[in-house]
Amino acid sequence: MVNIAIMGHGVVGSGVVEVILSHKESILRHAHEELNIQYILDRREFPDSPLADRFTKNFEDIVTDDSVSVVVEVMGGLHPAFDFVSRCLCAGKSVVTSNKELVAAKGAELLALAREHGVNFLFEASVGGGIPIIRPLDQCLAANNVLEISGILNGTTNFILSKMIDEGMEFADALALAQKLGYAERDPSADVDGHDACRKICILASLAFGSHVYPEQVHTEGISGLTLADVDYARAWGGEIKLVGRVKKLEDGSLYILVCPMFVPESNQLSHIDGVFNGVMVTGDAVDDVLFYGQGAGKLPTASAVAADVIDCVKHTHAPKYLFWEDNAPKNYVTSHLDVPVSLYVRGHMPDEVSEQIGDLFGEICLLATEDTPEQEVAFITPRMPERELRDKLAELEQTGAQIQTTVRVLERDGRSA
Ligand code: HSE
Repeated sequence: MVNIAIMGHGVVGSGVVEVILSHKESILRHAHEELNIQYILDRREFPDSPLADRFTKNFEDIVTDDSVSVVVEVMGGLHPAFDFVSRCLCAGKSVVTSNKELVAAKGAELLALAREHGVNFLFEASVGGGIPIIRPLDQCLAANNVLEISGILNGTTNFILSKMIDEGMEFADALALAQKLGYAERDPSADVDGHDACRKICILASLAFGSHVYPEQVHTEGISGLTLADVDYARAWGGEIKLVGRVKKLEDGSLYILVCPMFVPESNQLSHIDGVFNGVMVTGDAVDDVLFYGQGAGKLPTASAVAADVIDCVKHTHAPKYLFWEDNAPKNYVTSHLDVPVSLYVRGHMPDEVSEQIGDLFGEICLLATEDTPEQEVAFITPRMPERELRDKLAELEQTGAQIQTTVRVLERDGRSA
């Protein structure tokens, strides 16, 4: 019997309790031990819980109890999670977390602490909810040089965009529905402004390339500026708009990493990931493309990943897993997105004499039209060139009287159509 503690009894925490209590046989078969939830830390009272007698409001009960060998952190946020997790690791307890904010900000530090104390720090549920992605990236794809990872990493924004695309729902209405259904984070800006996806691509980049990438280093844009006109133009072009987190290793060893809405061509599998689902495409030099797909959020999918990590901790008590990255990124490890060539979708209001200049300014453009294109609205895809050059040209266009309303990058992959 292995004693564990669970810090936090919100959506994910209560899901972890539910999964552990309802899957005893399967857990025993895989862990070769029974799990006993010795403590649940929460400020609130849960008198109706089947484990009502295990609740505590005092973290010291957990950290000072030598019989507890695995602690689950599902409180979310940086504080007090960071302090609690650090103290548990220092006390020789393995820690499992679903907290992407914590791993993205403090992962290298916590992994080093875990190594120092000979315990595990596992976080499968921090990216992609119930989708196995951390373990496959660390183990199954370990013989590859990862070339690129592109993912739909936030279920809420994907749900909103799907509603806009498929049902013509306005952004604000789709967001209200996502909140009503409980998909959105407490603060919806973490979802709609791209911060949640940013934390997740930072975790994947750190793991895949070995040096910690911090959220502050990543150019991040959300979806709140997108309109129904933009999703219609994407369809007319032959794809869909998705919020994509992308990291790519450049030839000089630096990383091109960003989170932003992208035009994803229909030929790319990511364009078919709809609703609250997540999809992560990993490209390795030996394996080529591998797509991970499933429920990226929600109580039981996330709890399933947390419980599997607990089982892994139990199985690796004496020989901790080697899941690690360093905090040693060289200066300029993350390249400016403005230096990298892209194509942009551009939509704006342009008098005729201005739109006539677009071709001269950008070269070969692809003009887009929908059934409802208003008069003097122009939408086009630029040729590929360093983003800085494109932005300069757009500024020039604005000086001649164009009002640019939206720009969206096109997801292009070297040497491939998608
Ligand atoms: N709000 C997040 C999402 C939850 O919608 O994907 C999982 O991180």
